[in-house]
Amino acid sequence: MKPAILITGGSSGIGQEIALELGEKYNLIFIVRDELKTKKMIATLHHQNEHKIFECDLLDLEKLQNIMEQISKNFKIEAFIHSAGVSYVSYAKNFDFNEMIKCAKINLYSAMLIIKFLLKKNLKPYLKDIIFISSTFSKKGEIGNSFYASTKGGLDAYMKSLSLELAPDIKVNSILPGGIFDTGMTKNLFSQAQKQEILKAYPLGEGKTKDIAQGVKFILHCKWISGQQIIIDGGYSV
Ligand SMILES: NC(=O)c1ccc[n+]([C@@H]2O[C@H](COP(=O)([O-])OP(=O)(O)OC[C@H]3O[C@@H](n4cnc5c(N)ncnc54)[C@H](OP(=O)(O)O)[C@@H]3O)[C@@H](O)[C@H]2O)c1
Repeated sequence: MKPAILITGGSSGIGQEIALELGEKYNLIFIVRDELKTKKMIATLHHQNEHKIFECDLLDLEKLQNIMEQISKNFKIEAFIHSAGVSYVSYAKNFDFNEMIKCAKINLYSAMLIIKFLLKKNLKPYLKDIIFISSTFSKKGEIGNSFYASTKGGLDAYMKSLSLELAPDIKVNSILPGGIFDTGMTKNLFSQAQKQEILKAYPLGEGKTKDIAQGVKFILHCKWISGQQIIIDGGYSV
């Protein structure tokens, strides 16, 4: 049994790019909503490693626990990457409780639950890295995004304490992407003119999913980095 990387959100956008970057070298285990979509994506890889797909909606935390039971019996996981996420745009005065719970479950609680299983004594010795795809909104305020931002801020606060809890054997880090405009989350959000206006605030111009995937590869490669919020945003937050 070769060590593998467990990834959520690998079916689309940033997570898909990370999977495509890592899938040539590592065995990947996907937790995704849509198995077929993910199978098609894996088929584009040159090296057909032993990738495995588990179908699960992260809103179903009970099913997620069952899947993690199976994974913990059958695989050695050396890294976990949590890229699954949904946005929830709303002014605070209009918050809808159900939407809040959905966003928190996918962005935050599902990762915590998965990690609980990865820390069981039969799996923990193999685990070397945990990487969260957070957001610059975790550090920088944005009108209408306060709930989404709070889930990412929660993820980053969890990441920091976890990095201390799990040192020196396991590195735990977050990547905070700036706006990436060609993902499932963002592709229909702005007109071309709006996008050009937004990009004026990005000193290095437009970033792509590949730029975020490179950050993941950097963290996996660098052995002396933990507890960090690594901003990859073309200078936007400066
Ligand atoms: N794009 C940006 O500007 C940006 C900026 C900062 C941070 N981020 C973060 O980057 C991560 C990836 O987002 P993205 O921009 O690449 O958008 P995306 O293409 O929509 O990717 C989101 C991923 O999450 C999965 N997902 C959503 N709800 C799920 C659920 N209930 N159960 C299981 N999986 C679910 C999606 O699965 P399906 O394929 O089944 O929909 C998809 O794989 C997110 O955490 C996001 O918050 C994005």
